[in-house]
Amino acid sequence: MTNMARYNYRAAIASTVILLDKLLFTAGPVEVRREVLEAMSRPMITHRGKEYKQLHASIVEKLRSLLGTDNCILFLVSSATGAMEAGVRSAVQKSIMHLTCGAFAERWEEISRANGKFAASITAPWGEAIDPLKLDRKSLSGYEAVAVTHNETSTGVMNPLEQIADKVHESTDALLFVDAVTSAFANRIDLSRIEPDLFLFGTQKALALPPGLAIAVVSDRLLEKAKNVADRGKYLDLVETKEFADRNLVPSTPPVSLLYALDFQLDRISREGLDNRADRHARLSGMARDWARKHLALFPKDNYSNSVTCVRNSSGKPYSDIDARLADRGYQISEGYGKLKESTFRIGHMGDLTVKEMDGLLSALSEVM
Ligand SMILES: Cc1ncc(COP(=O)(O)O)c(C=O)c1O
Repeated sequence: MTNMARYNYRAAIASTVILLDKLLFTAGPVEVRREVLEAMSRPMITHRGKEYKQLHASIVEKLRSLLGTDNCILFLVSSATGAMEAGVRSAVQKSIMHLTCGAFAERWEEISRANGKFAASITAPWGEAIDPLKLDRKSLSGYEAVAVTHNETSTGVMNPLEQIADKVHESTDALLFVDAVTSAFANRIDLSRIEPDLFLFGTQKALALPPGLAIAVVSDRLLEKAKNVADRGKYLDLVETKEFADRNLVPSTPPVSLLYALDFQLDRISREGLDNRADRHARLSGMARDWARKHLALFPKDNYSNSVTCVRNSSGKPYSDIDARLADRGYQISEGYGKLKESTFRIGHMGDLTVKEMDGLLSALSEVM
C-alpha cells in the first residue's frame, strides 16, 4: 500500500467513525446499543442445526411472552415490507380494504394492487387518524381483509387501534391485518383485545436492532384461509413458513447474527418491562412535542405517535442544513417523508433512547434552529 493509499484508507475509516458517532433520533433504522451490536459477533452456526433451532425457539418463546399471544410467530427473511406483501399474497384471494392516512398505508394498498388484488380504501387526510365510526357493515362488506397501519410513520399519527379493531370485528368476518412496524415495543398493545390475524413489524424500529428481519404474528384463522388461496408465491408464503416454524426453522437462510441480537435484546426489553418501555416512549414523545410547539409547529392535529414526531419546518432552513448542523453536534433526525418531504422533518424516539439523550438532542436542535 502506498502512503497515499494508506492515508485515504485511514481517512475513510475516520469518516466512518464520525458517522457512527451520531446518535440516531431517526424514523428507522434507529440507534442500536453497542452491547446489542456485539451480540451479533458470536460464531456463525448453520440454519438447519440444533443450535439454530434452540435460538429460534428461544426467540419465539420470548416474543410470545412479551406480546402476550398464543398465535403463531413467523420470521420472514426480509424487511417489514415482506410481511406486508406476505399477508396480502398468502391470505387474500381477491379483495382487501385499506385504512389509509399517510404514505405507509398507501404503500400497502399499492402492494395489494401489485399482487393482483382488488384494493379499496377508507381514508383520512394526512395528519389525521382513521375515524372508527367510518367502519361499519356497509363500508367493509365484501372484503376478505382489512389492513390498518397502527402508527403512520410519515405523519406521526397513531391510529386508535382498539376502537378500529372493535369496529372491524363487529362489522365483518374479514381478517384484520395490522402494520405495527413503528408501534410494536413502543406502546402497550393488547393483542388479546385487538385479535389481529396478522400483526407485523421489523427489527429496525422500536426493537432497536439492525434491519433485516420481519416478524409476523398470525392467527390460525388466517393460516386456514391461506391454504386455499392460489398463487401464494414461494419466498414469503405464510403456509410454508408456518410448516418450517413448527420445526423451529425458516424456509430460506435467516440472518443468524441478527437473531443472536434479537434474542439478547428481548432479554433487555424484559428487564426494562414493556410498561416501562411504553412510558418512556410516551415521555420522549411528549418532550419532542413540547419542543416542536415552542419552536415550530406539529404536523398532526392530535392522535400523536409515541415513536415519531412529525414537525412542520416553517423555519425557512432547508432540511439539508439542519441535518449538517445536527451532525456537527453528533445527532441525526429524519427528513419528511413522501409529499411531506420538504415541509416537515421527523424526530424518531424509538427503541432504547433515554430522556437525557432526548434533552441533548433538543438543546442541539434549539441551537441549530
Ligand atoms: C409504518 C411503516 N410500515 C412499513 C414500513 C416499511 O418497513 P421496511 O422498510 O422495514 O420494509 C415502514 C418503514 O419505515 C413503516 O414505518
